[in-house]
Amino acid sequence: MTGTGRTGHVEIDFSVYNPFDIEFIRDPFPTLDRLLTEYPVAFHTGINAWLVSPHQLAMDALRDPRFSSRMTDWADAPPPKPESQWTLYDRVHEHSLLVVERSEHLRLRRLTNPAFSRRVMDKIEANIADAVAGIFDEIENPREFNVATEIALKAPVRSIARMVGVPPEAAELFEEGLGWNSVRATNPMYAAEDRERYVNGTLPGLQYILDMVAARRASGDPGDDFIGTLIATEEDGERLTDLEIVSLIQGLVTAGADTAVDVHTLAIYALLSHPGQRALLRSRPELSEDAVVEILRWGAPGKFGGIPRFPLADTELGGQLLEKGSFVMPLFSPAWNDPARWPDPRRFDITRDHSGNIIFGAGPHLCIGLNLVKVQAKLMIEEFERRFGDTAELTGEIEYDPMHFNARRMTRLMVATGA
Ligand code: HEM
Repeated sequence: MTGTGRTGHVEIDFSVYNPFDIEFIRDPFPTLDRLLTEYPVAFHTGINAWLVSPHQLAMDALRDPRFSSRMTDWADAPPPKPESQWTLYDRVHEHSLLVVERSEHLRLRRLTNPAFSRRVMDKIEANIADAVAGIFDEIENPREFNVATEIALKAPVRSIARMVGVPPEAAELFEEGLGWNSVRATNPMYAAEDRERYVNGTLPGLQYILDMVAARRASGDPGDDFIGTLIATEEDGERLTDLEIVSLIQGLVTAGADTAVDVHTLAIYALLSHPGQRALLRSRPELSEDAVVEILRWGAPGKFGGIPRFPLADTELGGQLLEKGSFVMPLFSPAWNDPARWPDPRRFDITRDHSGNIIFGAGPHLCIGLNLVKVQAKLMIEEFERRFGDTAELTGEIEYDPMHFNARRMTRLMVATGA
């Protein structure tokens, strides 16, 4: 059903946009075009959210301070848990970038920015390269392998572990215990009791990181790696507390372990299916960051967007009146394929001008991990080219997980190596 609802809204339902329909997952582009042209801002009655598709309007919503990103500003937010029942998970969550109020968010971003600078990233690049090489070592020299399960699922969480400086003996505790449990704990596709189990599964990992940060601070010489920079950064007499650092690290694995999986599968898929662009990247490695952005834009893996927004008062957007407290989701895949921003959007072109894009969001919540994503994807492509470059080719059908909550997640992307 589509049309104008009781409140005068443009309304759509799953017949227009069903992100769990396998036909949409295999080929989303006709649907994305329809959203852009017929329903640029529409209330989805099945999802109970406003969906915003055009690049400019999605960017406006991300930047506009009248749209809050705090769940507590949602009219249907669940009631807060009484403080007497809080665990370490809740105490850490209090400091999350998605929970704190605006001025506190600004303070946290100011104090965390130096740890995500190019300087620190360059220092840890060798560590991440080592992690990526280790993942390829595990598959040895196969005749054929599945990029989705053997490379893409492993690379993001291991890169974050290396960035944080987790020692090998705590890898399992960090990656599975803290990382994947945190991702699952925030996934609304799971039943409430399962999410509770995943929340509890994060506790030993959270405690481990808390102890690690406290020990580094107590040593008197935090060092200049990622955690050391977070501990040492001081502005106007302000520093991050141990709980704030733990919260940030948990935010990184929650936001980064799963989202960055798709950039790895899409990188191999995009480059092997566009030999001209692949040859261009090989001859001009300085294009690698643009290539990563273009891989995401062209691949359009997202079913929804980044962080939802909640209008603080009734607010007009794209000719629609969005009520205070409603759930607003800027949709990234249509925005990344909006011909008003990207001429000939289905053309894969790593030399495109990507300035002013919202691939990693925009405004105050701009993705904190974007340098890491670019570095890890670049390293994965280089390692792939080094090992299988001249003979690799795509084989077989691509398969997807239709029930993945927010990504058109590939579960099977086979590559024959010629070995
Ligand atoms: C392909 C991979 C990724 C994409 C496309 C992506 C994109 C985004 C987007 C669109 C936002 C929200 C912007 C907004 O709503 O205003 C965001 C926020 C965020 N991202 Fe990423 N991201 C990726 C990977 C990562 C990684 C690997 C990390 C961590 C290492 C990370 C950490 C974060 C954090 C912590 C936030 C919240 C920032 C804040 O609230 O201030 N992301 N990202």
